[in-house]
Amino acid sequence: MPYDNIQVETRGRVGLVRLNRPKALNALSDGLVTDLQAALDAFEDDPEIHVIVVTGSEKAFAAGADIKEMADKSHMDAYLGDFITRKWGRLGTCRKPTIAAVAGYALGGGCELAMMADIIIAADTAKFGQPEITIGTIPGSGGTQRLTRLVGKSKAMLMCLTGWQMTAEEAERAGLVAKVVPAADLLDEALKIADRIASMSLPVAMMTKECVNRSYESTLAEGILFERRVFHSTFGLEDRKEGMSAFVEKRQPNFRDR
Ligand code: CAA
Repeated sequence: MPYDNIQVETRGRVGLVRLNRPKALNALSDGLVTDLQAALDAFEDDPEIHVIVVTGSEKAFAAGADIKEMADKSHMDAYLGDFITRKWGRLGTCRKPTIAAVAGYALGGGCELAMMADIIIAADTAKFGQPEITIGTIPGSGGTQRLTRLVGKSKAMLMCLTGWQMTAEEAERAGLVAKVVPAADLLDEALKIADRIASMSLPVAMMTKECVNRSYESTLAEGILFERRVFHSTFGLEDRKEGMSAFVEKRQPNFRDR
């Protein structure tokens, strides 16, 4: 299906989405977010796809919500339209593993979108920031919450209260991104990691993701109990039997997603 604001392709078992509004530095307009939501829905429904990668351009992953589009919104427009929350959170609710490959600006909603992914791989050119305060508003798509959990209160406060941008190197040190690579290698590196995940059992990868995410939503004891229940449930999978047999027989496993 052709989209106006994104490009979509599949690379083996990996679904790749490129945000594509170059003239607006991939500002997250309603049209772009609608396209993104539809593409993510399609990849989630496609049994051949195991992992989803979202990327932008060399200059910008995304420079935030489209300021021109929202400049004239009233409180009622935002409230009744459930502005941002309704469509924007789709990446954060994907059940399949997701990777954000970020080069250039990841600001405001762009930073928030990247943080919705399971793993962020950054080009050495990446810059992360929550500059909403500089335009008289606050992060509206999870920035104050996810950033604080990822980098801690002091750095999150600094970024949200001043609009200060974090470099890729600082973001890696702070735990916001998993890995920094030269800009020219960004997509290859993200796809390499995606391929590696895609070679695993899909249900086991999904269960793993569910358990890691649970750590954000529960106490340690509840999270450990949840993990144990899911761990036990892997013993009902053919893929679990195959993985362990392959180890014992010194061969590669042939996962069939059962
Ligand atoms: N919305 C709409 N248009 C944007 C945009 C945005 N967030 N960011 C950039 N653009 C547009 C610019 O208006 C410009 O368009 P024109 O050529 O038509 O003037 C074009 O993209 C190129 O931008 P610049 O000329 O500004 O490029 P630059 O290299 O000089 O600066 C930048 C780059 C530092 C990223 C700067 O564009 C900028 O500060 N952008 C806004 C960043 C921002 O405030 N983001 C937060 C938005 S609010 C939000 O996201 C709320 C939320 O939590 C969901």
